Amino acid sequence: MTHPFLAACRREPVDRVPVWMMRQAGRYQPSYRAVREKVSFLELCRSPELIAQVTTAPIEELGFDAAILFSDILLALPAMGLELSFESGEKGKGNGGPRIANPVRTGVDVRALRIPDPLRDLPFVLEGIRLTRRALRGRVPLIGFVGGPFTVGSYAVEGTGGGFERLKALLYGDPPAAHELFEKLTRSALVQLEAQVSAGVEAAQVFESWLGELAREDLEEFSFPYLARIAAAIRRMGVPSILFSTGTTSHLERLAALGYDVLSVDWRIPIAEARARALGVAVQGNLDAALLLGPKGNAVARAVEMVRAAGPEPGYIFNLGHGVQVGTPPETVRAVVEAVHAFTWG
Ligand code: CP3
Repeated sequence: MTHPFLAACRREPVDRVPVWMMRQAGRYQPSYRAVREKVSFLELCRSPELIAQVTTAPIEELGFDAAILFSDILLALPAMGLELSFESGEKGKGNGGPRIANPVRTGVDVRALRIPDPLRDLPFVLEGIRLTRRALRGRVPLIGFVGGPFTVGSYAVEGTGGGFERLKALLYGDPPAAHELFEKLTRSALVQLEAQVSAGVEAAQVFESWLGELAREDLEEFSFPYLARIAAAIRRMGVPSILFSTGTTSHLERLAALGYDVLSVDWRIPIAEARARALGVAVQGNLDAALLLGPKGNAVARAVEMVRAAGPEPGYIFNLGHGVQVGTPPETVRAVVEAVHAFTWG
């Protein structure tokens, strides 16, 4: 029997609405914080045993319908030649924002970037996938992922999160260099996805979190062609594909035509409107993650309203509009998962 999450990705009927949450493994969980007391974030991402443990924990603790590989979209950057660290990501400390010591600033920097070889450069990710599949024992599917070229590019060029000035300066000041950057990040994404699927992931999500930064003309030139190539490649790999972005409500019809099976939408659009506009694809989302920080009863009520608003047509996956926030009570997450599972069209 196809698992409800995979069935919903393919817009097939399901017995119950599948639910998972971006950042379902993270600092809001006591079990995650206990692991992070002992190892840094990067050490965690490079340990296959810990990857399997941390990826599986939210399934067992909270009852989600899919697991997402524990890793990070920036993990391939060191293999491309960029020195990546997570600030205050040392033992026990939280909020490790990414830092790149030698960011990409010029065409010369872009030319020096190498395409990673996942077998050589990211073996811990692939072994992590194999160990996770074993630990999951078929209970739920495992989602793999990469970062989208624009989002990974923003960290590679800015050197930190927040702000897009330098990336836009490259885009407008040296368009051929910007294209070469996105081309290399696309190839990097493709080799990582191929390796992840070979190692056993059963769906693939592209995290293009900051896509909403660009004007439509620039999306058409610098992003959509690359995202469409990634969608076509995932289709050839034989697993469902999900495109996640934020701030892109005004481009929904266009995003739905890029070739992904599922669009993951943020909280800025009513879910019914997203479903009506994203024709021909499944929709994933889109509860405001901040609701889970408030009263449990309210979060549950809003979650149930959302499932109802999403409607009975096949092709809906419950998720948040962005990741689970630090400080979210696990009890609230569990209550939301249970309420979504209990929902019926009676
Ligand atoms: O969704 C999941 O649970 C899978 C694991 C995952 C992480 N990061 C774990 C993580 C995934 C899919 C990501 C994607 C990611 N990483 C994105 C795109 C999604 C999004 O949130 O927009 C981005 C932009 C990054 C880069 C990144 N990694 C940032 C900006 C930070 C610091 C901010 C933060 O939330 O801490 C990270 C660190 C990070 N990645 C943590 C986790 C659980 C926190 C690490 C810790 O201190 O333990």
